[in-house]
Amino acid sequence: MSRLLIRDLAQVATPAGRAAPLRGHAMGGVDVIDDAFVLCSDGVVEAVGRMSELPSISGDLEEIDARGLTAIPGLVDCHTHACFAGDRVEEFSLRAAGATYEELHASGGGILSTVRATRAATPQELLAAIELHRGWMRAHGTTTFEAKSGYGLDRDTELAQLDAVHAAGGSPTWLGAHTVPPEFPNADAYLDYALAEVLPAAARVAHAADVFLERGSFDATQARRYLEACRLAGLTLRLHGDQFTESGAIPLAVELGARSVDHLEATGADGVRTLAASSVTGVLLPASALFLGRPMPPARALVDAGASVALATDFNPGSAFCESLPLVCSLAATQLRLSPAEALSACTVNAAHVLGRADEIGRLAPGYRADCVLLDAPDWRYLAYHLGGELVENVVIEGKALAGDGGRGRRSIRNGLR
Ligand code: NIG
Ligand code: FE
Repeated sequence: MSRLLIRDLAQVATPAGRAAPLRGHAMGGVDVIDDAFVLCSDGVVEAVGRMSELPSISGDLEEIDARGLTAIPGLVDCHTHACFAGDRVEEFSLRAAGATYEELHASGGGILSTVRATRAATPQELLAAIELHRGWMRAHGTTTFEAKSGYGLDRDTELAQLDAVHAAGGSPTWLGAHTVPPEFPNADAYLDYALAEVLPAAARVAHAADVFLERGSFDATQARRYLEACRLAGLTLRLHGDQFTESGAIPLAVELGARSVDHLEATGADGVRTLAASSVTGVLLPASALFLGRPMPPARALVDAGASVALATDFNPGSAFCESLPLVCSLAATQLRLSPAEALSACTVNAAHVLGRADEIGRLAPGYRADCVLLDAPDWRYLAYHLGGELVENVVIEGKALAGDGGRGRRSIRNGLR
């Protein structure tokens, strides 16, 4: 048996209870233990408690001296586009000078510029890209990530993206309906192709399907057609909705029993009510709203109305070149008016629920996978409080620490294997 003891922690903090997803005010329930330990056995949490209650342990044991550190569950990034080639730094500069994201998209740049770069990459280059980005995410405490295709929009590149995400240990989502590639005359002709030629193979690798329901990409009728076909193929459903316009994403998500609807920067009061009354989780992406200078989603109204809300980075080269969930938690507390506790629940247990894994990850409690983040902080709320801070001292995945317990661990986490 391989065992790891993380001892003398200033604090351990974890979303309370066993339920998932947490809805409404239950999102604010966090259990905190001061002067604590976490004991992991064979990749699973065996016990969490106060140092004064640490049982005597016989046999082989690896130990981390965690004085001055605080443990939280490994963070779960349930919405990224982390498998891409190239960058959009040129467009970023144009946006800084006044061009808008939607204008760049309409003129053949934006998503399509990353499609060109991603199609030109080999499968090996795509795998190297996602592994690089996984290292960046881990250095910020992400131990589980989802990543979407959607930068291929042809059979081979979409499958190469999904394979690369799977090989890097991520949860692959087929974003076959991201936008219409230039070789097709319209969205319906592209969907004819994607559903006939790509879906059968994509469904063997992907866990979920996603669509960009927005003017300039796919309308509600087209999104419905795509999602119904994906559901039939066994995929969980997700939508990019209400990013720029309210185009019917929430009612469609509720009607089709989608797992999540993501973005929601343009969602109004009716949408808040409809989502809160449903079992669909709202995934909020404040780094994307910040990066594009867009309004923030109505997070407070959603939680107050009893919705299930998750937070994610949306990490991608165009609308959110940001892999940091701690930064997203800071934005949640400063811009979305969520409490640090609600933010923690949103990027752990609720994000795990979006990926269908809430019984296994997202909490630091016996029986959950031994994934945790050691923060260089005396109080777990520094997760949101230390804006842009270098907080992450060590990351434990399945009971294995990515960095040794001495010195700052960021570089070794980034380069860590697995
Ligand atoms: O979630 N809005 C659509 N898709 C992504 C952005 C992708 C890109 O710009 O490359 C998003 O923001
Ligand atoms: Fe996205």
